Amino acid sequence: MHTENTYEFGLIGLGVMGRNFILNVAENGISAQGYDLMPEKVEALREEGAGIGRIAATSDLNTFVSTLSTPRKIMLLVPAGKIVDQVIEELLPKLETGDILIDGGNSHFRDTDRREAYLQSKGVFFIGAGVSGGAEGARKGPSIMPGGAAEVYPEIQPVFEAVAARYKGKPCVAYLGPGSAGNYVKMVHNGIEYGMMQLTGECYQLLAQVGGLKNGALSEVFGRWNQGRLESFLVEITSVIFRQKDTLDTGALIDKILDKARQKGTGKWTSQNGMDLGIPVPTIDIAVSMRAMSALKADRETADQLYEKPQGSLVDEAELESVCEPALYFAFVMTYAQGLHQLSEASVEYGYDLNLATISEIWRAGCIIRARVLDDISSAFREEPGLRHLLLSEDFVRRVSQCVPAARIALQHAIRNGIPMPALSASLSYFDAFTTGRLPMNLIQAQRDYFGSHTYERTDREGSFHTEW
Ligand code: 6PG
Repeated sequence: MHTENTYEFGLIGLGVMGRNFILNVAENGISAQGYDLMPEKVEALREEGAGIGRIAATSDLNTFVSTLSTPRKIMLLVPAGKIVDQVIEELLPKLETGDILIDGGNSHFRDTDRREAYLQSKGVFFIGAGVSGGAEGARKGPSIMPGGAAEVYPEIQPVFEAVAARYKGKPCVAYLGPGSAGNYVKMVHNGIEYGMMQLTGECYQLLAQVGGLKNGALSEVFGRWNQGRLESFLVEITSVIFRQKDTLDTGALIDKILDKARQKGTGKWTSQNGMDLGIPVPTIDIAVSMRAMSALKADRETADQLYEKPQGSLVDEAELESVCEPALYFAFVMTYAQGLHQLSEASVEYGYDLNLATISEIWRAGCIIRARVLDDISSAFREEPGLRHLLLSEDFVRRVSQCVPAARIALQHAIRNGIPMPALSASLSYFDAFTTGRLPMNLIQAQRDYFGSHTYERTDREGSFHTEW
């Protein structure tokens, strides 16, 4: 029930993401109250929220809960892991049957399933919602990937649709499926994010070391690419990053940033679960491995002195740019194709009943992997509802075929010059394998049968066979 003295929406966790999200809610005319244990965060929200709709903040949990209209709609934006369980435990005794909890963090999907079952036993509904777009997205419009209790989603829908990013007027949010569907889709989103970031980094190194491009030129190249089919958030910010001056020293900031990439785990989970499902996502796998490789900084520096680099040769800037653009587009498509393939298998395995057209539609704005090509991807899945794999879509056969030769040339330049481009290489090998009717796995089967009597199938008759080799 909503009265003049109550708030329609509650948010726990007033870090930058939480604060921005609740400001966005209030700005859209939905009265909202934030809660955080830390008084300075409560104060920050009060200050930032002054003059923005009806918004309040408190560090008293009783006040927070008792001033929310029922059924309560409470979103948690706290770090994934144990903290989510702690907050749930603190809240539960204060909630009533029918209240709705939303976890907006990057929780592992199995945690979401466990929490949903637990909360259901207490009469509380649970929605696991992936939220993408970083701090700015939370404030101005994120892409939201909710799943879980379908029966109460209509209560949340107006809030999410009001705050979400819009693509040609359409909000980038949709109920995706039961249980942990929302968190699962967000996890794969992040796996794709890892792949795209690694690929962009590889192009940077090739352009800089084999093309001799300096930061200014790199910024221009990525800026130009962002005007065409590569238009995407990640390409756009890459162009901006190369222009950023160092404020602590002279020169460009990019040259002072330590080359060790950290991670919170969502990319790794995508890879791990891809293995569990038996779905190949090699571009994502190698992107995770390369973050681990980057952490071996001291050993890399030592080994750098121990081995000779090949006597490569510089390639003309314009020529290199013209092969890197289609190569990067090709590899981005491979990364989306792998992630979406994983989603289609997870949909069956976990009963999510995912709609890949809808998912690619809500990724078109607000989130980190937003890109122009997602509009074409969603159309492919929309037009062919039974489409099992993006590479089987007629439109993408044409798009990909145009770019494969350039991907091969870009890799040749990399190999000749000793530049690591493992994500591009994995993307190309994925493509070559997926488009090869007969792979050498007949030999693997023969070997398995040779040393372990594991048996093999034949191409010309049914059944299982064993040979005394
Ligand atoms: C997003 C991002 C966000 C977060 C990443 C960073 O969609 O807004 O994915 O969720 O910035 O999870 O992940 P790593 O720290 O693992 O790189």
